[in-house]
Amino acid sequence: MHTPVFLDKVLAHVDSNRDTRYIDCTLGQGGHTIALAKMGLHVLAIDADHEQVELFRRQRISEKVRRRITIVEGNFRDVAQIAHTHHFENCDGILFDLGLSMIQLEREEGFSYRHQHQPLNMIIETVAKQGGATRAADVVAQYDSAELTAVFEKWGEVPDASRLAHSIVTKRTKDPILTVGDLARVVQETLGERHIPKVFQALRIEVNSELSNIQRGLEGACEVLKPNGIIQIISFHSVEDRVIKMWAKHKGLTPIAKYVGSREKRASFERSAVLRILQKTL
Ligand SMILES: C[S@@+](CC[C@H](N)C(=O)[O-])C[C@H]1O[C@@H](n2cnc3c(N)ncnc32)[C@H](O)[C@@H]1O
Repeated sequence: MHTPVFLDKVLAHVDSNRDTRYIDCTLGQGGHTIALAKMGLHVLAIDADHEQVELFRRQRISEKVRRRITIVEGNFRDVAQIAHTHHFENCDGILFDLGLSMIQLEREEGFSYRHQHQPLNMIIETVAKQGGATRAADVVAQYDSAELTAVFEKWGEVPDASRLAHSIVTKRTKDPILTVGDLARVVQETLGERHIPKVFQALRIEVNSELSNIQRGLEGACEVLKPNGIIQIISFHSVEDRVIKMWAKHKGLTPIAKYVGSREKRASFERSAVLRILQKTL
């Protein structure tokens, strides 16, 4: 099992008694879900990725803890509907640990720019993948220069995004851009190697509609949270964090704590992590 970045902070804000009910919108390898269930809470755990759900089901967990966990394969943008179906309305807390697990990053999906040979898929949700959703390679092959520029600017804050978009459009008329290595090379030649992560971030956000999922997920969370209930949300880059902050303000949620990743953490994604804790005080 994986130990999530802010596990101790998340648990410190959980009011544990036998009737406490939490929704973990991002089950992953179950680090949060298991810890919450071990505290005696009832947990509704959601993940959009079939493999993550199946791996979790196969984990060795005591029967006592397992009985407190309800697992659903689904997208957290539908959290309100999922909560209604499983009688989890009026719950005490809702958790989002955004991004991907280590297992997903290593999969043949092109999520990580380190795996040059992988195809540019990047679809997280299994149902979307099976339904033939747009892959990152499709975005790179089909979007026009203005659309590509908007994706890189808005979702990746990539400097000189229009120059990159123009290079992609020129390059793809000669050779298709199909793999991580193909795309990384164009970015490296046009803007330099250090901009590769932002370009991959932008494409993943676009392919999975990540920011609109977060907004819809938070909207749904507010619907099924009891008064004074809390939302705990962990994000890993500034584009996500900005959306969360703006949305919380718009909905009148009260910020009760914020933690940022410590500089001592080895992995860069852990250093840029932010946990926001928001209360529904209305
Ligand atoms: C960083 S991992 C969560 C790790 C987890 N907290 C743990 O302790 O193992 C994020 C998980 O969220 C899932 N995910 C991402 N977007 C989702 C969405 N829109 N709906 C549901 N699950 C999603 C991913 O499949 C992944 O398993």
